[in-house]
Amino acid sequence: MSIDINTAWDELKQKVAGCQKCGLCRTRNNTVFGEGPEINCRVVIVGEGPGADEDATGRPFVGKAGQLLTGILENGGGIPRRSLYITNIVKCRPPENRNPSREEASSCSEYLEAQLLLLHPDVVVTLGNVPTQWLLKTSQGITALRGQWINWRGILLFPMFHPSFLLRNDSRAKGSPKDLTWQDVKSLKAKIDELNKGS
Ligand code: URA
Ligand code: URA
Repeated sequence: MSIDINTAWDELKQKVAGCQKCGLCRTRNNTVFGEGPEINCRVVIVGEGPGADEDATGRPFVGKAGQLLTGILENGGGIPRRSLYITNIVKCRPPENRNPSREEASSCSEYLEAQLLLLHPDVVVTLGNVPTQWLLKTSQGITALRGQWINWRGILLFPMFHPSFLLRNDSRAKGSPKDLTWQDVKSLKAKIDELNKGS
């Protein structure tokens, strides 16, 4: 006998959809669970939390930042968005797009933890300071950590800039956040190719 993964996913999705563990439930329109391959998943992308477009649709990274993320993955890295699992630290929109509080991240973390256990990816990509610092339990900033392959719970964690940050820093000059992100997504693609060769 082994655990029925589909049932486990369904139960987790229902729990998130009805969650009232923190105050974000009072202002949300939709929870944003995450989306992507639920089996044979190599890479999980973890953002911060839903924005207005995600709250309206129930899907992660579908607004301006999401469109940029999709472009970075697909045009910069040749990585189809649908080949990755995409989710966030918190599943409900923080009002005014503020950062989730420590308490909100903490009460939501059981959902991300369950997703990671069900997905058991090879790589977790964290976008920006919030998910990077939360998962690594560090106060080091994203500028220092991005582009590094970090051993985390026996798998690889790879911090990248958050696409919202790139929207505010549009330069493509050498060494700019966008230029560095272009390098990072190529490094991510090389890692995925290496992993696919190994199995
Ligand atoms: N920003 C995030 O961190 N996550 C989303 O889903 C959308 C925007
Ligand atoms: N601060 C963040 O939270 N993320 C970035 O990508 C850059 C600065």
